[in-house]
Amino acid sequence: MCGIVGYISKNGDVKSLDIGIEALKRLEYRGYDSAGLAFWDKSRQIICQKAVGRISNLEKKIGGNGFSPIDPVILHTRWATHGNVCEANAHPHSDCTGNIFVVHNGIIENYLSLKEQLSREGHRFSSATDTEVIAHLIEKFFDGNLEEALRKSLCYLSGTYGIAVISSHDPNKIVAARLSSPLLIGLADDHFLVASDASAIIAHTRKVVYLDDGEIAVINRDNFTIIREKKAEELDWPEDQCGMESYPHYMLKEIMEQPASIEQNLKGRLVSEEGNAKLGGLDTVAERLRQIDKIYIVGCGTARHAGLLGEYMLEEYAGIRTKAEAASEFRYRKALLDGTTALLAISQSGETADTLAAIRDAKKRGVLTLGITNVVGSTQARETDAGIYTRCGPEIGVASTKAFTSQVVTLVLFSLFLGRQRHLTVTTGQRIVKDLLRLPELIRQTLQCDAQMKQLAEKYQLYDNFLYLGRKYNYPIAREGAHKIKETAYVHAEGCRGGEPKHCELALISERFPSICIVPADSVYDKMVSNIQEIKARKGPVLAVSTEGSREVKNLADDVVYIPQTMELLTPIISIIPLQLFAYHFAVLRGCDIDKPRNLAKSVTVE
Ligand code: G6P
Repeated sequence: MCGIVGYISKNGDVKSLDIGIEALKRLEYRGYDSAGLAFWDKSRQIICQKAVGRISNLEKKIGGNGFSPIDPVILHTRWATHGNVCEANAHPHSDCTGNIFVVHNGIIENYLSLKEQLSREGHRFSSATDTEVIAHLIEKFFDGNLEEALRKSLCYLSGTYGIAVISSHDPNKIVAARLSSPLLIGLADDHFLVASDASAIIAHTRKVVYLDDGEIAVINRDNFTIIREKKAEELDWPEDQCGMESYPHYMLKEIMEQPASIEQNLKGRLVSEEGNAKLGGLDTVAERLRQIDKIYIVGCGTARHAGLLGEYMLEEYAGIRTKAEAASEFRYRKALLDGTTALLAISQSGETADTLAAIRDAKKRGVLTLGITNVVGSTQARETDAGIYTRCGPEIGVASTKAFTSQVVTLVLFSLFLGRQRHLTVTTGQRIVKDLLRLPELIRQTLQCDAQMKQLAEKYQLYDNFLYLGRKYNYPIAREGAHKIKETAYVHAEGCRGGEPKHCELALISERFPSICIVPADSVYDKMVSNIQEIKARKGPVLAVSTEGSREVKNLADDVVYIPQTMELLTPIISIIPLQLFAYHFAVLRGCDIDKPRNLAKSVTVE
């Protein structure tokens, strides 16, 4: 949610603006309502420019203006929280004198009272944002030292922040601070970068220092200082994974990457002879895990759908009572937790505010906290007791695809591991391992339905409502399929348990209301076939995702997409693929902004 970039070089770089904008573009998926920057110009003044809409609008605005930029420079791409989308509300924000410039991610919850107080003291505000109070507080406390003024200002803020500041009082410095909103410093040979997300700086360096909550960083041309001594970590993302290669959209690229991302996830994690999973991230808590008899899974959006699958898997294969919850609910209700409960958080980014809050609440209550995340060094990875990385490489499209399938595969590994600690037999474990090893190939085969999904998207493109239906392991897939088409194509869709429409949704069904039914050859196949009959009896068009050879489905459904056979537990990892492609092509046909759906953002770091 929102993106921050800062750049400062050893000798002042005439390319600073281009570098900063290029890095900011890599964060555009985090927010794209408006963008802005502030930079030192050779005339030794700070110039601030803003534009509504995409970063390309900002570039157009700056181009040909005759600026002679050097650095430091700070940049921001915004996802509006306080104040509508307009230039005045875009970052950077400035103080009354126009000497201090601030970019900010997060929310200052007490900004109204601070604004009132500062206004009484004579400060003049020019935006409706919460962020602007930070600039005025720094102005108020500035006494020759920027970091000291920032430090004093932070004492007055409640809420969350990742902040970068430059000031015309000091041309050789960026000052940054973090509280519950990620920020890191990239260390390159002749420059430093500040960013809210590692993907912004990967083209420059793999050496990063993550700021911890409560830390302030002072980044000069030659060095940087932060309160605590920090060890540089190596980023293990290949750079090319951040680009779009020849794909028209990140979403399609990421869908197509799934055979490779799952292969990468499984690498070195399967022990065939023991029918078990080897998960290094759980080593330190392996003994404690033996005592666990209840698991709460929390996550948001797509990660929550992965969590719903975890509920089915952990109960069936590990024999542990499991409940999957939206993190935003978990944090406010009084769930019954005790010493034998574990909380498992699932998050692609590892930065989702509600998920982090759930972890912190569980920790406070003495519960073992575990995480499944994609981003090494993310807040979730650092704050949980132990965890497993999904290793699917950077995911840029707002609609999550490869991160989802990797989360589900990780849940299978986790269930296998806990199952083998308990009553799951070697034979069943070996079967799961065997089918897991075949998964990348099965996904490769499934992806061949791309052309068919495009045709089907064309056929169904004029419908504005869809009912997605599935049972057991494919109920969460019905939810996730509906979620994909809603967020990418802006049409209404509902994901339901196959057995439920007779209690309500059948009232919606007509020739104008199609259903997408996920009905592989599994233990609930016959039940789903009956559910499809109920829809057909009411003249509802049916597009089915089924397994080759399913005669009943072929006879009943208007259209069928076939997926390969695998064990029931793994079916959802395959059945979601046609639904991702359907949503993608449908959204393309409707002219939607595929990688940056309106009103959404990739990483939601506000409550
Ligand atoms: C946002 C994104 C979703 C994502 C959710 C959780 O809502 O638009 O695609 O599933 O956040 O994100 P996380 O990084 O925690 O998985």
